[in-house]
Amino acid sequence: MEDRVYIFDTTLRDGEQSPGASMNTGEKLRLAVQLEKLGVDVLEAGFPAASEGDLDAVSKIASKLKKTEVAALARTSKEDIDLAWQAIRHAAKPRIHTFIATSDIHMKYKLKLTPAEVIKKTVEAVKYAKSFTDNVEFSAEDGSRSDRDFLCKVFEAAIETGATTVNLPDTVGYAIPAEFLDLVKYVISHTPNSDRAIFSIHCHNDLGLATANTISAIHAGARQAEVTINGIGERAGNTSLEEVVMALHTRPNFMPVTTGINTNLIYPTSRLVSMITGIIVQPNKAIVGANAFAHEAGIHQDGVLKNPMTYEIMKPETIGLSTNKLILGKHSGRHALRSHLKEMGYDLSDEELNLVFKKFKELADKKKHVVDEDLEVIVTEGILRTKDIFQLEYLHVTSGTTVLPMASVKLSINGRSVRGAGYGNGPIDSAFNSIAKLTGTQSELLRFSVSALTGGTDAQGEVTVRLRENGLVALGKGADPDIITASAKAYINGLNRLEYLKTHPVKESAVL
Ligand code: KIV
Ligand code: ZN
Repeated sequence: MEDRVYIFDTTLRDGEQSPGASMNTGEKLRLAVQLEKLGVDVLEAGFPAASEGDLDAVSKIASKLKKTEVAALARTSKEDIDLAWQAIRHAAKPRIHTFIATSDIHMKYKLKLTPAEVIKKTVEAVKYAKSFTDNVEFSAEDGSRSDRDFLCKVFEAAIETGATTVNLPDTVGYAIPAEFLDLVKYVISHTPNSDRAIFSIHCHNDLGLATANTISAIHAGARQAEVTINGIGERAGNTSLEEVVMALHTRPNFMPVTTGINTNLIYPTSRLVSMITGIIVQPNKAIVGANAFAHEAGIHQDGVLKNPMTYEIMKPETIGLSTNKLILGKHSGRHALRSHLKEMGYDLSDEELNLVFKKFKELADKKKHVVDEDLEVIVTEGILRTKDIFQLEYLHVTSGTTVLPMASVKLSINGRSVRGAGYGNGPIDSAFNSIAKLTGTQSELLRFSVSALTGGTDAQGEVTVRLRENGLVALGKGADPDIITASAKAYINGLNRLEYLKTHPVKESAVL
């Protein structure tokens, strides 16, 4: 019989806690649909008690997904559990995920509760969650720094009350693989009723060991792995889905377990997350980084040409990274575009396709070959951002060695067109100043970076900005063959994200 490891994706909850990575509801929905296609078993859609925006996004995702379990996070309070249930009650497969800290340091200083009180709250929370659904997960926050025997007692109580999954998080990314393996083995074997629940782990990457710890825990008997796409998440991030899945896929001799992930969709999903959140994937990132399959050394290239398996332990096609990318040009038709987008994982409505086709033609007029990366940008910018408050309609910049740089800009603000102009010490500065004036925003530019989306001098420039306004931080991303336009798009995208954060404040009391 197949031995299955369940993949619990928390990109939309823990992943969204990456600094600046907030997503709007439309973006979350699009990503949730993609994660369902990818084949995740459980999708943690958010923390409904955190903000009204989170509650709204979780309930929209819950109503949309058909196959995937949709989880909502809740502390052990009745209010949190009520809000979690309110958000997921329409899901085909709802799951309430409740948690409380179990380490001495968290119980004493953060919760100000005794171990007995923590067990009592665990039991009350699981019991209350069970009154709504049979599918209840309990997490022991800071589990890896908790007393092992106390952990076993808490898990035993949670399972006795009806928790169907118990999760041991390495909340602060402190564990070492051999130690974590030992801990997971100990807790599974010393929790008397552990066979009645799925044992889960949730690792953070503060020491760069999240994947190693997750794999060790699976080796020790854990059968649910909590992960995020590209490893995004609080501080140094979470365990990355692609690393765990591909490690299991590539080394079945070591761990004969399966997952429900369609590995062919790993790369497109990674790109989508990067496009939506604005968080760039580092080039040397395992599995999905730009260099993950690039062989630079001559001796390696020679070996790969003779037989790819000399230096390649995985095939790029397995993760959906096609080496024979279809190149579209300005004569390509709507039908070719639709079927290629479908292959890339984008199933667009007729209306969406019309929009993408128009943008594709505009780009193909400027750039000879349109490749997958270009199409991803068009889909993300064209489909996901259509309801943005601020949209760029027109940009004209004059700059050079003998003129004062000036930008004139036309924006649509909530559907109303406005124009303005501004100066700066360069074309980008003048474009940003004009946009700030028109939008009435006062954000500070914390970071600006530009890179080429693909090879070739006609490649689109991809710009990422990080903006801060009144303590809120947002990332923005934009791409265009003209890097000044790409910069303006990125800046406007960042401003839209700040607007979203302003109108969807996180409740002070709900900061995890
Ligand atoms: O890292 C952590 O402990 C968490 C829990 C809420 C599961 O994210
Ligand atoms: Zn976490």
